[in-house]
Amino acid sequence: MIIANWKCNGNKEMMFSWTADYERECDDNDTFVGVAPPSIYFKQFCIENSFLNILGGVQDVDYLDGSRTGAISVDMLTDLDCGFSIIGHSERRQIFNENNNLIKEKLKSLNNEIITILCIGETKEENDKGLTKDVLKDQLEIVNELSLDAEFTVAYEPVWAIGSGLTPEPKDINEIHKYIKDVVQSNSANNLSPKVLYGGSVTDKNAESFFNEEFVDGALVGGASLDGTTFAKIVNIFNKTKEL
Ligand code: PGA
Repeated sequence: MIIANWKCNGNKEMMFSWTADYERECDDNDTFVGVAPPSIYFKQFCIENSFLNILGGVQDVDYLDGSRTGAISVDMLTDLDCGFSIIGHSERRQIFNENNNLIKEKLKSLNNEIITILCIGETKEENDKGLTKDVLKDQLEIVNELSLDAEFTVAYEPVWAIGSGLTPEPKDINEIHKYIKDVVQSNSANNLSPKVLYGGSVTDKNAESFFNEEFVDGALVGGASLDGTTFAKIVNIFNKTKEL
């Protein structure tokens, strides 16, 4: 599973060239590929890429509809056949002050409706203090006693690795992914072992080193997904590595 998170980047022109570049570079594959453009471009992205095997998604959602100026609800995503929603990205937590209570409401409203990709990750300071697993466990509390959709997915994104060019060692990522699977499995009502993606400075140069790890089920790609050629290369690498 390879997911692109365009964040607040892109425009109509970029979308045209992205699609052409992706199509040219991408090999035939059966990898689950999703792209989350800014939601205002979501429908256009889906129309333009309908001939490709790519699912359109969104980067965030609200958990209610009605008098909530600026919000987009789960019902609206369903109405427009949205494939997935990211929630809990560290930029939402830090810039928009989202906390676990809010993210839990989002998870509950998406669960069994739209594939959910929950982002979790520790800061540099927490990592330095050896608190990574404690922090992740706290962030994962929101799955407690929920009967999770079979497609529920976690993205492990160390905050210090996002956009920085820094990444943990692949073997450390593998260990954390195993830990995340175990925590979710023991705490969710239906004992679901989720897919876990790695996110944070993934490129076509380092992707293979992550995909070689047993518990890495894919990647959530930010900066490197804005270029259709580079993103297609990452999809190709995943397809080759996980096929073996
Ligand atoms: P990055 O972003 O690939 O640019 O580090 C990843 C993300 O924030 O999802």
